[in-house]
Amino acid sequence: MEGSVSTQRQAGDVINLALGHPSPELLPLEPIRKAATHRLSTGDRLILQYGLEPGDLGFRHLLGEFLGLQPQRLFVTAGISGALDLICTTLTTPGDTVLVEDPTYFLARKVFADHHLRVVGTPTGENGVLLDELERRIREEKPRLLYLIPSYQNPTGATLSRDARERVLRLCREHGVLLIADEAYHLLGFNGLPAPSFAELGFSDTVITLGSFSKILGPGLRLGWAHAAPELLERFALSGVYDSGGGANPFAAAVVRSVLELGLMPEHLKTLRTTLAARRAVLYEALTAQLGAGFEVRYPEGGYFIWVRSTFPLDLETLTERARSHGVLVMPGSRASVAGAAADCVRLSFSYYDGSALRKGVERIAAALAELR
Ligand SMILES: Cc1ncc(COP(=O)(O)O)c(C=O)c1O
Repeated sequence: MEGSVSTQRQAGDVINLALGHPSPELLPLEPIRKAATHRLSTGDRLILQYGLEPGDLGFRHLLGEFLGLQPQRLFVTAGISGALDLICTTLTTPGDTVLVEDPTYFLARKVFADHHLRVVGTPTGENGVLLDELERRIREEKPRLLYLIPSYQNPTGATLSRDARERVLRLCREHGVLLIADEAYHLLGFNGLPAPSFAELGFSDTVITLGSFSKILGPGLRLGWAHAAPELLERFALSGVYDSGGGANPFAAAVVRSVLELGLMPEHLKTLRTTLAARRAVLYEALTAQLGAGFEVRYPEGGYFIWVRSTFPLDLETLTERARSHGVLVMPGSRASVAGAAADCVRLSFSYYDGSALRKGVERIAAALAELR
């Protein structure tokens, strides 16, 4: 979970652009109500039973149809966070190296650290992970895992091209590295899909592709999926947690099964993309207009975030602190960096607020900046 909603509630007027949540009005209560009523009216008591380890077959079937993937290669997880934990538990040994983009999703680093993995960064740029650097680091570090966020990356918003994805796959195959492709934002492209998902690029036991309903339906569902070779999925099923508790969140999966069965997903996704794209435009325009010279503002084609870099010597951690005193929170780049770099960057989210709050947030950042210039 990113940022703290409770801070925002207590602080009243604070605009928290550090949050990675969908805004409350983007949480589709009505479709969920319809879907829950539909599921409950089937009289199937087994939705309250322990579930099959990989997840209910009917749900996986519909999920496979929705994603264009084979259901027997899907494993239901407690979101991507749950999937990362499961991968670390079943496929790594403490002390193994995991190579991650620098910067990356800061809480994935925390999951890896919980499992005593050695986290090493490899640079990522405007078009995603830098491939020559990646190859060099794979040769030097001999990692067990490579963790990438290939579409609308958190925090930079960058997307890897199809060619780059294929080269990453070749590198991982050649060097025996297991690729974890975190596709949390893959379905949130504002101009169509970014490039084929890693799961679609040809099946192999080199890559586990992760997806989630958190950013496209509701994080409270705690529902996601892993797509991988059956041998890897079998190892997940044998983990202590799944052996003891059965599959992840059968009740939430049953409700989402009806969301898919009733065909409610496409319209919701359309609304979500349209709303997010409009907010992205508002935030981008406000930033470029108000920050003035000395800032590079990235224009993401999807996802939740805009990445801003200062091109003159200005420590954006200082700006972050000053902005807080003006009633606006942003995420300093250093928080997402493995090497403690990116102090010249900040991440701003456009997922939680409407246009007028986003404009107000940027005015406050500009006021904080004026005090530092
Ligand atoms: C890249 C990325 N992966 C995973 C997550 C967490 O996903 P989930 O809610 O499915 O655990 C987030 C949430 O911010 C994210 O940005």
